[in-house]
Amino acid sequence: MTNAQASTQEQWSSRLMFILAATGSAVGLGNIWKFPYITGENGGGAFVLVYLICIATIGIPIMIAEIMLGRSGRQSPINTMRILAKASNARPSWRYLGWFGVITGFLILSYYSVIAGWTLAYIVKAVSGDFSGVSANDTQTIFSDFVNSPLQLTLWHSFFMLATMWIVARGVHNGIEKAVRYLMPTLLILLILLVAYAFSSGDYIRGLKFLFSPDFSKISAESILIAMGHAFFTLSLGMGAIMIYGSYLPNGISIAKVSIIIAIADTVVALLAGIAIFPLVFANGLEPTSGPGLIFQTLPIAFGQMNGGTFFAIVFFVLLGFAAFTSSISIIEPAVAWLVENRGWKRSKACIYAGLLTWLLGMGTVFSFNYWKDIKFYSMTFFDLMDALTANIMLPIGGMLIAIFSGWVMHETISREQLNIGKMYHLWHFLIKFVAPFAVFIVLLHAVGIA
Ligand code: PHE
Repeated sequence: MTNAQASTQEQWSSRLMFILAATGSAVGLGNIWKFPYITGENGGGAFVLVYLICIATIGIPIMIAEIMLGRSGRQSPINTMRILAKASNARPSWRYLGWFGVITGFLILSYYSVIAGWTLAYIVKAVSGDFSGVSANDTQTIFSDFVNSPLQLTLWHSFFMLATMWIVARGVHNGIEKAVRYLMPTLLILLILLVAYAFSSGDYIRGLKFLFSPDFSKISAESILIAMGHAFFTLSLGMGAIMIYGSYLPNGISIAKVSIIIAIADTVVALLAGIAIFPLVFANGLEPTSGPGLIFQTLPIAFGQMNGGTFFAIVFFVLLGFAAFTSSISIIEPAVAWLVENRGWKRSKACIYAGLLTWLLGMGTVFSFNYWKDIKFYSMTFFDLMDALTANIMLPIGGMLIAIFSGWVMHETISREQLNIGKMYHLWHFLIKFVAPFAVFIVLLHAVGIA
């Protein structure tokens, strides 16, 4: 019964398409923009280690669970949760988990779109040759002049939202699949090129040491929370994005295998970004703690000095824009799918409304870099608050509830049949039932200072 709607719903055309789309969702600003700067802010190696442990023990099991729930329910996360709760004789209130995800998605996309707008603006800067021969000082000025301009940020944020909504309106096959097919592999090649540059011109010994030699004195309850939150953010977990992609997954494809492939691809991209950036940070006297502007202040130095740098800069920021784009479409997809299913709206109408709301909220992030930069809540700007609230609190809570539902509530027969992994099922079940939910719970408690 759980697959009753399978035939009426659009599906991915192949296993590879699913892997590319889900990797497209996972790989985005989180890997290339966020991972380096939070690693820089949280002291490097030990933080990276905690992050990797979270990916392996919490992230992968929850990704398997989310895809599994999606494929069992075959609807938007809200309706999927309602259907699956019913099938397991559980409370219908589990559907609020779907709602929680939709709201988290709105909040995330609101600031994600602003930062994605930065990458678009940097394409134009690259085209105009703004980076040729720049020093660290110049890139810092270019960046701060840029974020000081509400008008420019608004323009690019609006442009990015429009593009996202346009693609989402066109649906899974037409929109998403075409966008990810060639772009992901090209992005990988470019990152490798940047790594090669960092090795030839940067302080790679200090860079690698910073990233991979753990100094546990730099780890605090807060940095553990940030590492865990980032594991959710970077794998697109805890809000229904991967669940809805799973709902378009044909039966018979191994969920465990694709999850592991996606998680590895995502982690490799993040580590490559770190390996490309930190040698440049140290060689140019920049601070690892520079915050959200880190990649925008370091990479242009590399592009400005290398042969053919203008060309590579253009290609890089175009690809980063696309990586952000293939993530943003998955962030808003749960909300759009729900509006279509439950309101009977056309996809295009759903996109207009969802897009407008997100855009409006995003203006808060735009202003938090200029007009409102001194307005702080608990010493956080509006952007910091949105980011911390969603990545460090809402995604982990959503993920924990997904783990609890999959491990404790859902009938084992359904998950066993969906996963179909023989003895490995016990390992997954143990991780999803005990390890993931308790780990998240303890980290959350610890971070609010209770445990
Ligand atoms: N995983 C994306 C990234 O790393 C962001 C994202 C978060 C996408 C949550 C979907 C859901 O950029």
